[in-house]
Amino acid sequence: MQKATALAHPNLAFLKYWGKRDSKLNIPLNNSISMNLGGVYTQTTVEFDNALAEDEVLVVGQGAEAKFDRRVSKHLDRIRSLAQVSTRARVKTQNSFPAGTGFASSASGFAALTLAAAAALNLNLDERQLSILARQGSGSACRSIPDGFVEWIAGETSEDSFARQLATPDHWDIVDVAVAVSQEQKKVSSSEGHELALNSPFWDVRAGLLPSKYERMRHAILERNLVTFGQELETEAMMMHSIMMTSAHHDNTSWYSGIYYWLPDTLELIMAVQTWRADGLEVYFTLDAGPTVHLICLESNKSMVAEAVRRLATQHDRLNWVITENHPAPGARLVDG
Ligand code: PMV
Repeated sequence: MQKATALAHPNLAFLKYWGKRDSKLNIPLNNSISMNLGGVYTQTTVEFDNALAEDEVLVVGQGAEAKFDRRVSKHLDRIRSLAQVSTRARVKTQNSFPAGTGFASSASGFAALTLAAAAALNLNLDERQLSILARQGSGSACRSIPDGFVEWIAGETSEDSFARQLATPDHWDIVDVAVAVSQEQKKVSSSEGHELALNSPFWDVRAGLLPSKYERMRHAILERNLVTFGQELETEAMMMHSIMMTSAHHDNTSWYSGIYYWLPDTLELIMAVQTWRADGLEVYFTLDAGPTVHLICLESNKSMVAEAVRRLATQHDRLNWVITENHPAPGARLVDG
């Protein structure tokens, strides 16, 4: 085979990866836990062709971005070197979700690219090897390889830093009701943010708390204990954002006391969640490196949560909020091109 197509979902971290032990290899400072998001995906076709002098990258619906093309080529080089070939490839990739819906395409994109390229070159890689490869393209992409609920074992070397399944997608019928409150691109990329994590004076506190938090969250998922899970989820999101907001740094023009990914609407939703829960609606939030609020609830409460969000949006005249529903989903897989 010289051509293959793969599909992968973005994943939502419940226990976060923020800070790297090794920036080149994307080895994280801590274990993390996530769920694949069924409502959104990236589909990527890779075709190796001896007639090509250079890799060609087409992102459907988006203009060419030299930086992204270079990242894709560099990733293909890793896979070519495993297969011991130098053939260039044509890559066509398409996201089911437009920019501004609050999902980063790097995890789903690099997971789909890894699987499609490895299959096109007939590399017989197991899930762990695919995950290790995907991680080198974009850290959290390694968690989009296995199915359902996933844990990324931080490891210390490239070979022992990989993601594996914690539970199947049908293990627990929880839903992520994602509320994207802004369509603007964030000012500090997650790659830059990872580098700044250790600037926070609270990093050591976080590092001390993480191992037991990881165990509690893992067990809460395995036991389908929404109360414990939800409490770990929210406190984890707040702890990561505390690190972000206290990562002081300079750039060429100014000094910043930290990175602020929230917008006023983010806080509006955070506060609404506390009220909804006090009123008996069981829902918990988490946040990544952006203003989008992910509301986690049982499938049976999904409509009530989405309705509560729509009411809040109407009250505050927020016509730009985009709501997406995501069920736990399988990992990266080959599909017909
Ligand atoms: O994989 P990256 O470099 O996009 O980093 C992901 C960072 C967070 O989304 C904030 C946390 C995580 O674990 O996904």
